[in-house]
Amino acid sequence: MKLFIDTAITEEIAAAAELGVISGVTTNPSLLAKSGRTLNDVITEILSLVNGPVSAEVEESSAENMYRQAHEIVNSVNFNPNITIKLPMTEDGIKVCRRLSSEGIMTNVTLVFSVPQALLAMEAGAEFISPFMGRMDDKYADAESGFKLIKKIAEVKRIYGYKSKIIAASIRHTAHVEQAALAGADIATIPFKVIKQMYCHELTENGLKIFRDASKK
Ligand code: E4P
Repeated sequence: MKLFIDTAITEEIAAAAELGVISGVTTNPSLLAKSGRTLNDVITEILSLVNGPVSAEVEESSAENMYRQAHEIVNSVNFNPNITIKLPMTEDGIKVCRRLSSEGIMTNVTLVFSVPQALLAMEAGAEFISPFMGRMDDKYADAESGFKLIKKIAEVKRIYGYKSKIIAASIRHTAHVEQAALAGADIATIPFKVIKQMYCHELTENGLKIFRDASKK
């Protein structure tokens, strides 16, 4: 499973890129607001930090305006092949997904919470689809709702041979990363804080201390 970072904070992206295990970035309007920067202001810098797909989300609602904004974003980064247009899982979003996919522009359909939604996005040629694990678990008070959603979408993808890559999104903790991998996600997009937690296990820390103490003797 590939690992993306879910943030618009360039310091976090740069630090994650240094780890050598991050192959893409996802942003959204909330993450941009948190970073204190605008998409226009930051997107070229993000593309320079990671050699992989970078999702930039449209903020318009109508198909016509989303399509126009998508092209503005693509133009603003000089047609960088890693730019990926993130579109909402709406009727208009799916129409734009089909159009952009036909033009060879990578798309990421976001806010996916069901198999029928995933089917629409995959049929529309989405390069990526983003089912949200954390928000599923919050809503249905079941710590496995997100896991089951990814598992079902991965199964449908397998049966029909869809090419869209499943990005497990809305990841809140390392258990979600584990669930995403076991459910068959192609990618997990992970907040920086959770990436750092992935290194940790108390037995690793204890074991290291034992080895270090031994080597001092
Ligand atoms: C995915 O691409 C989204 O940016 C993100 O994972 C949303 O997560 P949230 O539920 O924590 O807002």
